[in-house]
Amino acid sequence: TQPLRAVRGEVVHFLADPADAGAAALAHFPDGLLLVRDGRVEAAGPAAELLPQLAAGTPVEDLRGKLILPGFVDTHVHYAQTDMIASYGEQLLAWLERYTFPTEARFADPAYAGEVAAFFCDELLRNGTTTAMAFATVHPGSVDALFGAARARRMRLIAGKVLMDRNCPDYLRDTAEQGYLDSTALIRRWHGVDRLRYAVTPRFAPTSTPEQMALAGRLYAEHPGVYLQSHVAENQGEVAWVAELYPEARSYLDVYDRYGQLGERSVYAHCIWLDDDDRDRMAATGAAASFCPTSNLFLGSGLFDLDRAHALGMRVGLGTDVGGGTSFSMLQTLGEAYKVQQLRGSSLSAERAFYLATLGGARSLYLDGEIGNFLPGKEADFVVLDPAASPLLARRTAHADSLAERLFVLMTLGDDRCVAATWVLGEPAWQRAAY
Ligand code: GUN
Ligand code: FE
Repeated sequence: TQPLRAVRGEVVHFLADPADAGAAALAHFPDGLLLVRDGRVEAAGPAAELLPQLAAGTPVEDLRGKLILPGFVDTHVHYAQTDMIASYGEQLLAWLERYTFPTEARFADPAYAGEVAAFFCDELLRNGTTTAMAFATVHPGSVDALFGAARARRMRLIAGKVLMDRNCPDYLRDTAEQGYLDSTALIRRWHGVDRLRYAVTPRFAPTSTPEQMALAGRLYAEHPGVYLQSHVAENQGEVAWVAELYPEARSYLDVYDRYGQLGERSVYAHCIWLDDDDRDRMAATGAAASFCPTSNLFLGSGLFDLDRAHALGMRVGLGTDVGGGTSFSMLQTLGEAYKVQQLRGSSLSAERAFYLATLGGARSLYLDGEIGNFLPGKEADFVVLDPAASPLLARRTAHADSLAERLFVLMTLGDDRCVAATWVLGEPAWQRAAY
């Protein structure tokens, strides 16, 4: 076993959803200490209580003035879309044709895939994200590149090869059979290696034949513990198209249900144009939604109904959805989530927002036994936030008294500049150069 390490700062984490448990959901130690050993949390609490218990000579990293939160969880992102972020002028279906497919074609080249994967993982860490669920491309080598880069950085990563055998350019098309074989080989190679997990990844119902949809459901059933990720009910044109392609289905979500793709560890990006039967079905099966506000606004897709999702008991996490989303920053994602809820006539509290970015995300991925807060035994992934990272933040934060107000300022004005450091498994994985 390794020696104990201590980090001192303002420690904030969640024990429950503030929407269910209110103030009891939050643990807050204004002068706090986080103790880590062998990559795991040993304790979190007030410095006044824990410091006297430390053996003489225990190193204490002094981060007073900074906030220490569990590492952020991005439940939906496309690493292969890093180079097409901020592409102008289209909604979903035209955007896929015009920008996404040509960009993803470049991942046939393993050298390019490796270079983007390294940049992507570094960018996640620079933004305080320590766990992500990501789409690769249709090329199996794109998955090897991504898992290799995440493994080298000891990150938690769930990813998979895109399955896509129709309604896309030939150069990005697999077949139902080959997609199944390639996915099986990738599951054997990567699932459960260190902190890596595999996700069966049918892109969305329109780009898979019924044969491929059935095989995706079969892969998910054949490998217990494996994830499944897709997109659902993002854009109204997309919803109408799915109704034409699958006339037998009651709804878009029902297509996935019919092919055995709803269940624990299945994650559906967007979930905007669902009805309550769909929401009930997601809740009953344990499927999770990934709310991707920057993407939903940028692509003009619609407004996710967080209150309804919660009322009906759905699991919900947050996603950046880069490159439909416009930022790798979970802080910016929270700020946009707030605005989406405002447009729905609801106000997302800062506590609930940061819960969703940490423990809520972990729960949606069935990883709350491993990550999401600072309970003893959890993996010691955390982000160190500087609430005064810019002149404006410093000025605004100076007269923000409560924790809730300071968190709200961070999610409204903050971005990657606020991430002072990111720790993975109890070690610094990224640190901002002193200025
Ligand atoms: N639906 C199918 N593919 C995609 C994608 O790459 N991005 C988004 N936002 N939606 C999709
Ligand atoms: Fe997406």
